[in-house]
Amino acid sequence: MRRAVCPGSFDPPTNGHLDIIGRVAALFDEVVVLVAVNPAKKGLFTADERVAMIEEIAKPFGNVRAVAFEGLLVDYCRDADVQAIVKGLRGPGDFEYELPMAQMNQHLIGIETLFMVGDPGASFVASSLVKEVAKLGGDVADLLPPVVHTRLIERLAEQT
Ligand code: PNS
Repeated sequence: MRRAVCPGSFDPPTNGHLDIIGRVAALFDEVVVLVAVNPAKKGLFTADERVAMIEEIAKPFGNVRAVAFEGLLVDYCRDADVQAIVKGLRGPGDFEYELPMAQMNQHLIGIETLFMVGDPGASFVASSLVKEVAKLGGDVADLLPPVVHTRLIERLAEQT
């Protein structure tokens, strides 16, 4: 069984994330989308809410599950028999951010990180930017899976 992990914050998952998850799902037997829980960082959505959204939007792929995880990514990879970490790259800035983490993870347990070129049409799409624009009333509907967009609008409305 070839298993890949796609780790990230996913607060919330975007069309850019979904593009990468679907393409990784086509290459591996199973994909685990790992929602990293950082107790020091309060997100707009809880880890369980993010997991539920990812499970829903990735259901059509048939071999993707989402889990929330607090701790070292490599510990999860070792325990869950993961062969590769796969990260999407929107541009050179992502590579600079990702490379030391990939090297650290390889140093820790020898795990491979594969970088997948992101959809150029989504290269400006970041969860943080989407949230900021949506909070200020901008239209982000075509940057998110519809169910995520609905939940984002609902959550922002709850906060006002
Ligand atoms: O979507 P993000 O916030 O850029 O994802 C970063 C993430 C969650 C992949 C990274 O911070 C991570 O792997 N966190 C888990 C804790 C860990 O293993 N840290 C050491 C990384 S070398």
